[in-house]
Amino acid sequence: MNRERLDHWTPDGWCARPAAQQPHYPDARALQTALAALRQLPPLVTSWEVNALRQRFAAAEEGREFVLQGGDCAESFADCRPDLITNRLKVLLQMSLVLVDGLKRRVIRIGRLAGQYAKPRSTDTETRDGVTLPSYRGDLINDPAFDESARRPDPQRLLQGHAISALTMNFVRGLIDGGFADLHHPEYWNLSWVEHSPLAVEFQRRVDAIAASIRFMETLADGPVPELTRVDFYTSHEALLLHYEAAQTRQVPRHPGWYNLSTHFPWIGMRTADPGGAHVEYCRGLRNPIGVKVGPSMTPEWLRDLCRLLNPDDEPGRLALIHRLGAGRIEQQLPPLIDAVRGRRVLWLCDPMHGNTRATDAGVKTRRFEDISAELAGAFRIHRELGGRLGGVHLELTGENVTECTGGARGLTDPDLTRDYRSTVDPRLNYEQALELAMAIAELDHLA
Ligand code: PEP
Ligand code: CO
Repeated sequence: MNRERLDHWTPDGWCARPAAQQPHYPDARALQTALAALRQLPPLVTSWEVNALRQRFAAAEEGREFVLQGGDCAESFADCRPDLITNRLKVLLQMSLVLVDGLKRRVIRIGRLAGQYAKPRSTDTETRDGVTLPSYRGDLINDPAFDESARRPDPQRLLQGHAISALTMNFVRGLIDGGFADLHHPEYWNLSWVEHSPLAVEFQRRVDAIAASIRFMETLADGPVPELTRVDFYTSHEALLLHYEAAQTRQVPRHPGWYNLSTHFPWIGMRTADPGGAHVEYCRGLRNPIGVKVGPSMTPEWLRDLCRLLNPDDEPGRLALIHRLGAGRIEQQLPPLIDAVRGRRVLWLCDPMHGNTRATDAGVKTRRFEDISAELAGAFRIHRELGGRLGGVHLELTGENVTECTGGARGLTDPDLTRDYRSTVDPRLNYEQALELAMAIAELDHLA
C-alpha cells in the first residue's frame, strides 16, 4: 500500500467529487442522524476475511483458483427469507462443486448478496400519466410503489439495509459453519424440482466422482480432511450509495489502512467508473479487493487510468476487471483492453449477462442462454490466445425456478417468460440454467 498517495484520503473525501447515481435526501438532518447511527454499528465482515479474499484473488490471477461470483441483480428487503437464502446458497455450492471437479482448481465462492440493495438508473425521475417522481433506486434508498412518499429517499432504509444484510449473513454463516457446505453431503444442496431435470444425471455423475475422490483422499490421510467439511463464502455488492459505504468504512486495530466492512468485495459499476468521479475516489482508499465493470464504452486509456488510480503499486489480488461487453462485441473490444493493461496485476472476470440484455417483441427484458455461453467461450479463448487467463465469472442467477432468460437444456422461449418472471430489474439464470452454465464453463476452460 502506498502510504504517501493515501495520506490525504479519507472515507468522506469523495464528497468533493462529482458523485453519479446518488439520491437526493430531502431531509439532510435525518440523513446525518442515520449515518451517525450506522457508523456505530458492528461491521458485517471482518478485515481478516477481506485480507484472506485478497490473497485468494492473487492466487486466481496466477491461475491457481477460479472465482464464481453470482446472485441477484438487485436483492429486495422482502427476499430476506430462509428458503430464498438457502436456495441461493445451494445453487452457488452446486455450481462450485461442478467447477472444482471440472477445472481442478479451488473455487472462490462470492455471493452477490447481503447488501446488493442499490441500483444505478438511467434517469433520475420517472413519469407516469403526467406525474413525475424520483426513480426507484433499490430498497436501500426508496420503495418501488409509484407514489410520492414511497419514492422519497428515506435514510432509515440505510439502517434497515444494514440489519437485513446482517440477518442474511448470520444465516449464511450459520449454515456454512453448521455443516451445510460439507462436501460429504452434497445431497443437502439438492433443490426438489431438479430431480426431473435433464441435467440431474450429469450432475449426479460428478457428485459420485467427487465422493470417490474424497474417499480416496481420506484413505490416504487416514481420517477426515478438514478442508472438505466447510467452505469459505464471501459477499459482494456494487459500492453505489457512497454515504452507506463510507459509514461502514473503518480502521481496525491490527491491520493498517481502511476497510469497507459492509462487504468483502465491493465493485464499481459501469455508470460510476469515471476516474475523476466520487466512486473511484472512495474505492481507491480501501484495503478490500475492488472490482470494476468494464463495458463497451471503456477505452484503453480509461482502463489504464483506472488501474493506476485503484492499484498504483500493482498489488496482487487488489483489482478485478469485470468485462461485460456482449457476445457480439467481445471479439473486437476485449483484445485492446487486455493489451492496455498488459504487465499489470489484474484479475480478469467475465460478466456475460449485462452485455447481452435484449427486449422480446412483447417488451420483456431477457437474455439468451446461448449469448451468455458464447460470450464466456469468447472470454476464455481470447484471454488464452493473448497469453493470459480468465480468472472467473460474474453471473446474475437465482436458486428459484424462474423463467427470465431463454434457452438452456429446457429450451425456454420468449412465450415461456410470462410463466414465472419475478425480477424487477435484470433477468437471471434460473437454477437449472446456472448449473448448466457451470458445466459448460468446465468444458470451455479445457477448450480454450
Ligand atoms: C449490475 O451488475 O447489476 C449492473 C448494473 O452492472 P453494470 O454496472 O455492468 O451495468
Ligand atoms: Co443487473
